[in-house]
Amino acid sequence: MFKIILGSDAELRLLELHHADELFVLTDSNRKHLRQWLPWVDGNSTVNETKGFIEGSRKRYAANTGYDAGIWYQGQLAGVLGCFGVSLSNRFASIGYWLGEEYQGHGLITRACKVVLDHAFGEWNLNRVEIRCAMDNRKSRAIPERLGFTNEGMIRDGEWLYDHFVDHIIYGMLAKDWPSNPHGASDRRASGIEIREVHSGKGHLCEQTLRALPDWFGIEQAIVNYTADVESMPTFGAFKGDQAVGFLSLKIHSEATGEIYVMGIRPEFHRLRIGGRLVQAVEDHLRKSGHRYLTVKTLSPARENHEYEATRRFYASIGFASLEEFPTLWGEANPCLMMAKSL
Ligand SMILES: CC(C)(COP(=O)(O)OP(=O)(O)OC[C@H]1O[C@@H](n2cnc3c(N)ncnc32)[C@H](O)[C@@H]1OP(=O)(O)O)[C@@H](O)C(=O)NCCC(=O)NCCS
Repeated sequence: MFKIILGSDAELRLLELHHADELFVLTDSNRKHLRQWLPWVDGNSTVNETKGFIEGSRKRYAANTGYDAGIWYQGQLAGVLGCFGVSLSNRFASIGYWLGEEYQGHGLITRACKVVLDHAFGEWNLNRVEIRCAMDNRKSRAIPERLGFTNEGMIRDGEWLYDHFVDHIIYGMLAKDWPSNPHGASDRRASGIEIREVHSGKGHLCEQTLRALPDWFGIEQAIVNYTADVESMPTFGAFKGDQAVGFLSLKIHSEATGEIYVMGIRPEFHRLRIGGRLVQAVEDHLRKSGHRYLTVKTLSPARENHEYEATRRFYASIGFASLEEFPTLWGEANPCLMMAKSL
């Protein structure tokens, strides 16, 4: 059965019946830890139930609808990564994972996911892989975010967890966006982009980015004003290593509403889903503080402009609706369109 090396200290092996005892011990010694986010823990209270799980998993493997692989770290079973719901007609699969508490922090799940994604997009030629994480499970959500998945939105009450529902965030990766996909046009510019909140140097980040976008931000005084204004605003940046590739600054208007005050991605990084990820980070940030709406003001289609037409398409593609035109708010030469989305 398959065995894949995950660096010098770990490997991934398809689960087989003779692993049941080891898997049960790992589950049993981590009940409290696993119960926080996994709904099946109470239903797995004997070795026989673990055997039943492995048998079911073997059947899924034989039927080409998925598999479960154990992750071994320094010779010890550390966790499981499952690929399930495989549909070869829709070229789709989901993945899920867990680790024993003591095995966290070694990058095991990220490494294992890379292998499973290479297999899904390479061997199986799938088009889409999905990961669903409980909204508040930050450690789990960090995995798809680190791997460059797109946060495609939140579903309410996505799962019953013993005595309450939890909301889920759905993350998706398409074959065309997977950096090492042997079948697709890989785009390494998109890999390793990290989105994070910025606490110092906001003005500098804003100014550098806006100066790289003269087709959108050509008025010197506007750049100076934005650069000063964003210093006091929550600001999120997109970084590739040390290089800043974009930013978004947020203006909080009320308990209900935040506004994208200004955002920009350096032109050489356009169309890589970085803008979409920045907006998603800001949406998460706002939801946590109880905000319900996100708005943005941009140039209205009443003034023909190729660049801002693309900007409006971007906002529309991530769920913004056009609300109202303000023909004179920014002066007659720059009619303003207000767009908004519900959080
Ligand atoms: C608008 C902007 C922030 C978008 O960021 P981005 O990282 O390039 O956008 P994404 O890759 O996340 O795009 C997500 C989706 O939006 C849509 N979209 C983005 N740019 C588009 C364009 N030029 N034309 C048509 N659709 C576009 C697409 O549906 C795209 O998905 P796809 O590439 O899979 O088709 C960026 O283009 C930018 O910095 N523009 C200049 C500054 C600006 O307009 N700021 C906002 C001022 S209000």
